[in-house]
Amino acid sequence: MITGASAGIGRATAITLAQQGAQIIALGRRADALQALQDALPAGSVRLLPGDLNDDAYLQQVAALAPEVDIFINNAGVLRYAPILDLSPEDCAWMFQTNVLAALKITQIIARAMVARQRGGHIVFMSSIAAREVYRLASVYCATKHALSALARSFRLELQGAGIKVTEVAPGMVDTDIRTGSDHPDVLASVANRKFKPLTAQEVADAVAYAVQANPNCCPDLIELRPQGSF
Ligand SMILES: NC(=O)c1ccc[n+]([C@@H]2O[C@H](COP(=O)([O-])OP(=O)(O)OC[C@H]3O[C@@H](n4cnc5c(N)ncnc54)[C@H](OP(=O)(O)O)[C@@H]3O)[C@@H](O)[C@H]2O)c1
Repeated sequence: MITGASAGIGRATAITLAQQGAQIIALGRRADALQALQDALPAGSVRLLPGDLNDDAYLQQVAALAPEVDIFINNAGVLRYAPILDLSPEDCAWMFQTNVLAALKITQIIARAMVARQRGGHIVFMSSIAAREVYRLASVYCATKHALSALARSFRLELQGAGIKVTEVAPGMVDTDIRTGSDHPDVLASVANRKFKPLTAQEVADAVAYAVQANPNCCPDLIELRPQGSF
């Protein structure tokens, strides 16, 4: 099961894992984008569950499928860049709600099912380099990723006795649409002056594929990925 499979890193991960033999359950709000993902892959390899992770009724649909999930990629996330004094309360709440609280809720649902099944499992959190560093214009996003990383480590601590692996994948800048909603002039200038080439979604998907296929006794706890020349 992959959240945020309709675009970017989640879509690339869904395609990569499907090509390597996984049965995918693809989540995201945009039904048309999920349909396009399904059309791009062999018939029967992808099931779609469109909906909003901030909607409790939708999470009940997710819970109904949870007993089938061996690998959960907790990837969906949102970002709005702005100077810290210009961030609206709505944008702050939106980022914390989606990146932290919704991510926590759905992981609890999946992890409870994994524990009940007594067959182990693997949970991958898509955090960010922003889980350990902070950047100008990204204050609240960085705070959400710090929080998500803390949750990933807590799930690992508390679930390893149940045979459940938890991996945190922490990319630096990746070339996706996540920044399209940030049109503050300072942000646009900062992007225009960037001096390195971002990672691709495929490069992140390859790291996820490595993590979930590690030997049974090996848990890649944290994989940080940085574009060359970015620091
Ligand atoms: N791009 C980067 O530079 C970068 C770097 C480090 C980490 N990350 C992290 O990687 C993850 C994926 O980001 P991306 O770069 O691939 O961005 P993206 O292309 O914008 O994809 C974000 C995904 O999240 C889904 N999503 C957002 N809000 C949702 C909600 N309320 N309910 C359900 N799905 C929701 C979106 O689907 P719908 O719009 O269809 O709902 C979309 O599939 C995020 O957690 C991001 O923080 C990104």
